[in-house]
Amino acid sequence: MTEIERIDQLREELHRHNYNYYVLNAPEITDQEFDKLMRELQDLEEKHPEHRDENSPSMRVGSDINKNFTQVLHKYPMLSLANTYSEAEVTEFYDRVKKSLNEDFEICCEMKYDGTSISLTYENGKLVRAVTRGDGVQGDDVTDNVKTIRSIPLVLHGKGYPESFEIRGEILMPWMVFEELNKEREAREEPLFANPRNAASGTLKLQNSAIVASRKLDAYLYYLLGDHLPCDGHYENLKEAEKWGFKISDLTRKCKTLQEVFDFIKYWDVERKNLPVATDGIVLKVNSLRQQRNLGFTAKSPRWAIAYKFQAEQALTRLNKVTYQVGRTGAVTPVANLDPVQLSGTVVKRASLHNADIIEGLDLHIGDMVYVEKGGEIIPKIVGVDKDARIMIGDKVKFVTHCPECGSKLVRYEGEAAYYCTNDVACPPQIKGKIEHFISRKAMNIDGLGPETVDQFYQEGLIHDVADLYLLKTSDIINLERMGEKSAENIIKGIEQSKEVPFERVLFALGIRFVGETVAKKVAKAFKSMDDLAEASLDDLIHVDEIGEKIAQSILLYFASPKNRDMIERLRVAGVRLEADEEDISDHTDKLAGKSIVISGVFTHHSRDEYKELIEKHGGKNVGSISSKTSFILAGDNMGPSKLEKARKLGVAIVSEEEFLQMIE
Ligand code: IVH
Repeated sequence: MTEIERIDQLREELHRHNYNYYVLNAPEITDQEFDKLMRELQDLEEKHPEHRDENSPSMRVGSDINKNFTQVLHKYPMLSLANTYSEAEVTEFYDRVKKSLNEDFEICCEMKYDGTSISLTYENGKLVRAVTRGDGVQGDDVTDNVKTIRSIPLVLHGKGYPESFEIRGEILMPWMVFEELNKEREAREEPLFANPRNAASGTLKLQNSAIVASRKLDAYLYYLLGDHLPCDGHYENLKEAEKWGFKISDLTRKCKTLQEVFDFIKYWDVERKNLPVATDGIVLKVNSLRQQRNLGFTAKSPRWAIAYKFQAEQALTRLNKVTYQVGRTGAVTPVANLDPVQLSGTVVKRASLHNADIIEGLDLHIGDMVYVEKGGEIIPKIVGVDKDARIMIGDKVKFVTHCPECGSKLVRYEGEAAYYCTNDVACPPQIKGKIEHFISRKAMNIDGLGPETVDQFYQEGLIHDVADLYLLKTSDIINLERMGEKSAENIIKGIEQSKEVPFERVLFALGIRFVGETVAKKVAKAFKSMDDLAEASLDDLIHVDEIGEKIAQSILLYFASPKNRDMIERLRVAGVRLEADEEDISDHTDKLAGKSIVISGVFTHHSRDEYKELIEKHGGKNVGSISSKTSFILAGDNMGPSKLEKARKLGVAIVSEEEFLQMIE
């Protein structure tokens, strides 16, 4: 056997072992034997680069090459499902379908997997592309990352699959992997993932596919699309896809009556807790594709399907103590410290209490038995108190009157629910929080610096505000604990590079209350320099588009502080950009002032992001979805059919790339 033949043989064998292990759950060889074969393949592939194959099993180990994802237009838009929490609405859905079809039909009941959706394209039996949902019209090309997911076939089995088709499904992080990952992150003091869904989507967007490979993602596929599918039944098509090597849920059932549908829902509402992956509901789909076509789509979702969502799980546990966290703006958040309790797959020890009014509304006492529920955030929330369980009543929870970090008296601004510590000069979490915001990616984007390093520099007395960063030298930090020469140099380099960050981001980085990314852009465009902004009056400020009195007052307050003005002076001395780039300003116009523009399709002259920038440069506003207020759609090739239809219905003009470029010329 030649080495080339051996490569082919190994590839085939390893594909089979992957499938046995990850799809069938029935490995034939040990992990060591598998690794040995993989190493042999990798060695041979290295020797024969001319025999490279994009879909070799070795691609599953990923690489550390950084990639910026390219945007790909979906051939069929990725729509979402109509959601309901109510059984009555399930009945309504069923009755509507019955009435529209006026013939017998079957409903396919499936688990609603709670991960991140993916669209896979196969051509001639090979995976050619994997794209995220994105905005439904176009998503990120994450093929390299998806190739590391072992339950997704790179090369299909058997015969009978269409020459070209798409299959969609959900990428998931199993509970066990999720818990393990969060444990590791906790040990490394990295931020935790709130749930397996966020962990899966965060992982899929990582730049380094070797890390993706280590995260052990899984995938279930549930939707086939293409012109030449084998059967008319959705269920039957998935059964075929299973034979081609896809992981298809074996919990799916076809139901003939509404009662069967409800039995399925009722059973899985309880049993889903024993599944290895997260689910958040049941998806009901009319099984026949012909009937699906008859029922059609609304602008957002198919009329032939609905998702019944399970109620969020709750747990009952004891409230031991309430502690308070101070954020960078000085807002004080109450946190409930609880007896550890298992909830939706993780152990919960802390829960958010939001603000003083919520505490008052719950009539909360220390020692109370409280109901906790998980929302989308990392910290679950308290949703109720079991007052019948009060044997002895503890102290009523009273919101603190003074800052737990610096002792200053707290204040409550009119119309706001939160209490604030106003001591922004000497309250440590506020100082550190402001610096963390300043260095963050969307602000000054200083590489190598993170919350722990900021904390370390602050503890060591090296920095007291953001301007101090620019005085740091490698020699100041090189001998700090956990700091090597390389990291120290990287930090100083990152700080140096941040001097090139444009004015609008510097403005955002200052962390002025209510001045987020978009407001910062508007303000920078209107005032062009920090000096002009600092001298602006209330009147000047509120004349800027979208700047109301609240934002204007906050900007005035910021510049009224001598400490802030002094810090800005030190940023100026350091060389940070406090003026908008001349070039940048000179090509700004108001040719598109007052216009709301939707971008759709694929373009030849500029990228989508460039068009977005052009719209903003010329005073227009880029909006996400078409409405009667949309001025026009900037349309490239292959604009999604649902968008076209909507535009037509609402009479919104469609402008081609060339026409648009002429408009702003
Ligand atoms: S079918 C046109 N089936 O739920 C309908 N979706 O809001 C295509 N999902 O984005 C989706 N499990 O990410 C379908 N068995 C299932 C599903 C499922 C989870 C997700 C999917 C989709 C969202 C719908």
